[in-house]
Amino acid sequence: MAPSLTDTRELKTFVVDEGHGVKGLSELDIKTLPELFIQSHEKRLDMSKVVHHESIPVIDMSNSEDPDVIKLICDAAENWGFFQVVNHGVPLRVLDDVKDATKRFFSLPADEKKKYLFKNSPTKNVRLVSSFIPEVDKVLEWKDYLSCFYVSDDDAFAFWPRVCRDQLLEYMKESEPLIKQLLKVLITRLDISKLDETNEPFLMGSRRMNLNYYPKCPNPELTVGVGSHSDVSTLTILLQDETGGLYVRKLDTDNWVHVPPIKGSLTINIGDALQIMSNGRYKSIEHHVVANEHENRISVPIFVNPRPSDVIGPLPQVIARGEKALYKHVLYSDYVKHFYRKSHNGKDTIDFAKFVDCAFSHGLPTIYEP
Ligand code: OGA
Ligand code: NI
Repeated sequence: MAPSLTDTRELKTFVVDEGHGVKGLSELDIKTLPELFIQSHEKRLDMSKVVHHESIPVIDMSNSEDPDVIKLICDAAENWGFFQVVNHGVPLRVLDDVKDATKRFFSLPADEKKKYLFKNSPTKNVRLVSSFIPEVDKVLEWKDYLSCFYVSDDDAFAFWPRVCRDQLLEYMKESEPLIKQLLKVLITRLDISKLDETNEPFLMGSRRMNLNYYPKCPNPELTVGVGSHSDVSTLTILLQDETGGLYVRKLDTDNWVHVPPIKGSLTINIGDALQIMSNGRYKSIEHHVVANEHENRISVPIFVNPRPSDVIGPLPQVIARGEKALYKHVLYSDYVKHFYRKSHNGKDTIDFAKFVDCAFSHGLPTIYEP
């Protein structure tokens, strides 16, 4: 039965607990945005801050060993924290398949999707969520997502939804050479000559993939698809459809730039873990997704992460150059728990690894663990 749009509890139950999601609400063809989703002005993207004459670099990866290309990648990671890659080697068919698989998953009936809600899922490695952390978010974000943490093929076969499992695994495997190549290039500027068993686990020891669904929204200007945040990953590889709506902060400014969809491209961004390991040289930049009045949007990020059991901090090779460490060593699973304790709030997660710590949040319970 359709929920009351004015009874916040009833609406939240419909969206969050019954498998309908924000998508189910959007499909009721509502004409105005319920209060539950109305964000404060500070949380919305101020369109007057968007600059149109600039954009993040677009890098052709066909000759990724070329010193000019290496320089473009390292410069982009330092100065933008975000770039797009084309000719990246991940077959376009694999990208199309994973987008189709995402649509297939979200087209399942609510009763089917409900099985993957955090409270029902038999594994903590798979969870379907609306908003970001509905247990914590006071105002909900206009988004549903399925989050899959990769442990092994057997685990994926057992627990990931059948309608998207094979395509997600293929996307993850086919993107591995690109991930390795990007990391190999990025560490050269940190005085590390190769990716090997001493650094690979920290840089790419675990993988999480999210299927993001941003349904059409009657009042997109009043809410957010995803509030401003930085990722907790080492690197994020993002596949987006042709809708657009992802905005990125321009380093050290109050301006934002749009990431225009380019067919066949992937968007790469540096996450907090690599900002910490590079002692601040590479930038984990805030980003934001706006809601859209006319189109449903999907995106599929692969978060390339350290292993939860790794202790991360500025890499020894970076400190050996005489730099003062800006971050302390933290257990990666503690860092991720900290991220999942609070609603999206710009770049504040990284304070957890700064020497002057935001001690207040240690006492808060965490909802999702790595
Ligand atoms: C994310 C994210 C961006 C997008 O899932 O962390 O920032 O375009 N997604 O969906
Ligand atoms: Ni993100």
